[in-house]
Amino acid sequence: MTRRVQITKGILWFISGLAAAVTIVRFTRGLGTTTALSDTTPWGLWVGFDVMGGVALAAGGFVIGAIAHVFQRERYHHAVRPAILTALLGYAAVAVGLIYDLGLPWNIWHPLIFWNPHSPLFEVAWCVMTYLGILFLEFLPVFLERTRFQALYRTLLRLQLPLIILGISVSTLHQSSLGTLLLIMPFRLHPLWYTPHLPELFFVSAICLGLVMVIFESSVTAWLYEREPHTDMLAGLSRFAAGALAFYLAFRFFDLWHHGKLGLAFENTFEVRLFWFEIAISAVIPLVLFLIPRVRRSHTGVFIAAALGVMGFLLNRIDASGLAQVWATGADYFPEWTEFVVSFGIVSFFALIYLFIQEHFPVEKEIVDEEERWLQRQLFVLPRFDRGSQVWLGDATFASRRVYSALFVVALVVGLALTPWQPLVKASPVQRARGGEMLRVGYPLGTVMFPHGEHITRLGKEACGTCHHLHKPGDVGTPCSECHADLYLDTTIFDHVRHVAVLEGNASCAKCHPEGQPKVRATARKCSSCHEKDMMAANTVATRFESLAAPGLRRAAHGICIECHRREAANPEWKKPDLFRCATCHKTPVPHVQELRLLRAEGGETAPVAAGS
Ligand code: HEC
Ligand code: HEC
Ligand code: HEC
Ligand code: HEC
Ligand code: HEC
Ligand code: HEC
Repeated sequence: MTRRVQITKGILWFISGLAAAVTIVRFTRGLGTTTALSDTTPWGLWVGFDVMGGVALAAGGFVIGAIAHVFQRERYHHAVRPAILTALLGYAAVAVGLIYDLGLPWNIWHPLIFWNPHSPLFEVAWCVMTYLGILFLEFLPVFLERTRFQALYRTLLRLQLPLIILGISVSTLHQSSLGTLLLIMPFRLHPLWYTPHLPELFFVSAICLGLVMVIFESSVTAWLYEREPHTDMLAGLSRFAAGALAFYLAFRFFDLWHHGKLGLAFENTFEVRLFWFEIAISAVIPLVLFLIPRVRRSHTGVFIAAALGVMGFLLNRIDASGLAQVWATGADYFPEWTEFVVSFGIVSFFALIYLFIQEHFPVEKEIVDEEERWLQRQLFVLPRFDRGSQVWLGDATFASRRVYSALFVVALVVGLALTPWQPLVKASPVQRARGGEMLRVGYPLGTVMFPHGEHITRLGKEACGTCHHLHKPGDVGTPCSECHADLYLDTTIFDHVRHVAVLEGNASCAKCHPEGQPKVRATARKCSSCHEKDMMAANTVATRFESLAAPGLRRAAHGICIECHRREAANPEWKKPDLFRCATCHKTPVPHVQELRLLRAEGGETAPVAAGS
């Protein structure tokens, strides 16, 4: 075991310890406590990195399988076992990552029993399960090679080619289905990422990522175990990678051009900068590096190009499933540190398993052999009492395990101390409409353009109460969003402390809580009995005022607007039989980029109104 391996393992154990702490909080307190996700941004780092990225990272397994076995390139046989191992562990990591992300993780087995063949996710679930099984069978010979189950070992070796071919077909299916998932959100995914060819694009990029990942991993293990990298093989793989990357770039830009979206790539927005950054590090820079023969034969060169490629394509998955959707909702999302810790923790944990298998089973023969020699040598190392560490930690084989355990426990404790235990849930506050004839109602930037003036003209100056069923005391036409302050959640508008103060302190209790009865909500006086005059409008749809809380704005708006529109659609006077349909009010599913930019530039408009103010 080299010093490098020991230090790396120490770091990996530490991160795993932190992740273990967050895991405890995640599964006892829920997603709201450990993530920055919200109703508007339900997909974040975990879906992007752990699931979408994880599946694509594992693509190396089938790509190398295809190159070595189907196209019969002997030179790449070395790479097959590590690539299959990565794929196996990668998929296991995806399954683990998914459990963190699911709201009801204990239902993860449902696709097995409750079939929904129309859903791309259903297909992904089945493919991932099947492929995990296939990968296990592909890898089993490595476990069996040095045991006495030789008959089984030889049978499995004979089955290898059919298994690999089966694996390739299953991978092709679900790598592209992950792209299919995003096809249902043409208005949410930024046009630079959205294309009807997402499935094909995902497949091609998975091949690219698989190749650069195999190169990356092969050079990292060579560095860790201080052995000669397989320069020939790496150079060959780099050539394949260059081909795949060139194809990917051509595909992506041709697609943009074909759909007339190339112009979008030259605007000056965050998304465009993100797009170019992603394209540069995922494909352009690695492609240029791989094309230079000197780089292909240099260990560092290949490593840098591959590392950039891996980061770039992971970013692509994170963009597609999160960052490139934020523009549509306008909601700011940045992962909490706990999200990073879990993502890196899962990777660390599986990297440790990877190293363990490398050191104990013949994945790459040099590594196990070297490891066994190292263990042998330890037997002959005489105890030395000169160093404190040896007295406390014992000989080298035990010392490292003790250090790792200590690091893990320390990280666990630190993690438990730092992880928040209270929900971080952020409400989705609504935007207050401003100004004149036409009001922009809703959140984030107002998706409904509401002709306020026209409605008043039609209904008459006295009819404000048709919609404004409640005001703040002393006000008229209090904007709905003052009380219906969240799009979906109920927000309370009752301030107990303030009422006690206004109603003269201790004497006030009896005005709301009848003598001799418990002072609770159920027995308290109705709001309307005091507020009928100063808050409630006379002729309104929402005639009750008993509740402390105003329902979410969507329910409030629909409650008033749609009812009347349904009635008026039948009115021949307007000639608008479609008046009650969604698109009458929701004209643009999301505000246009141009509008978003203008609004952001205006500044004040985007400041949300504090709940209950
Ligand atoms: C058809 C329903 C409807 C009618 C009728 C109506 N309003 Fe409104 N009004 C609204 C909605 C919806 C908003 C936007 C509230 C928000 O953004 O939360 C609004 C907003 C307002 C605002 C705040 C505007 C701003 O720029 O902040 C005022 C003031 C107002 N209405 C006054 C009135 C008055 C006075 C009348 C009667 C003459 C009236 N409204 C009639 C639905 C109506
Ligand atoms: C008469 C106008 C009107 C009609 C018709 C209407 N809505 Fe709305 N809707 C609104 C208003 C106003 C809001 C609150 C403002 C906002 O957030 O956009 C809203 C909010 C929403 C929201 C929450 C806002 C968001 O961006 O998540 C959803 C979802 C929604 N509507 C869906 C629908 C669907 C589906 C239909 C058709 C069945 C429909 N609406 C029909 C006026 C309407
Ligand atoms: C002063 C605060 C306040 C304002 C302003 C206000 N509401 Fe409400 N709204 C409430 C409360 C509180 C309730 C719950 C009443 C109850 O059930 O006792 C409610 C209930 C409703 C309901 C019934 C919802 C349901 O499903 O129970 C609708 C519809 C509604 N509001 C629409 C509006 C619209 C549209 C506006 C703006 C034009 C508006 N409200 C302005 C406080 C307010
Ligand atoms: C304007 C009416 C009003 C006045 C005045 C008032 N209360 Fe209340 N009180 C309520 C309502 C409504 C609730 C239910 C609040 C809730 O469920 O959040 C409540 C709840 C309570 C509760 C139960 C809190 C809980 O968590 O369940 C206590 C105790 C209480 N009030 C005591 C008092 C005392 C003591 C006074 C006098 C100093 C007082 N209230 C004055 C309306 C009033
Ligand atoms: C005993 C009579 C009484 C009852 C019952 C009562 N209120 Fe009030 N409320 C008042 C008075 C008085 C004020 C102060 C009015 C003013 O500022 O002009 C007030 C003010 C308010 C305000 C305005 C606060 C602000 O920030 O301006 C709101 C909102 C409100 N009440 C909601 C409620 C709700 C919701 C209930 C039912 C749970 C309720 N009230 C029950 C007497 C009452
Ligand atoms: C009391 C009945 C009534 C209510 C309440 C009402 N509307 Fe309307 N609205 C109408 C009628 C009638 C028309 C058609 C007028 C016309 O075409 O001249 C209309 C037209 C519209 C239009 C323009 C449609 C078009 O095709 O040009 C929009 C947008 C709209 N309403 C949104 C809303 C929203 C949002 C709300 C709730 C805040 C709302 N309306 C509440 C009666 C109502």
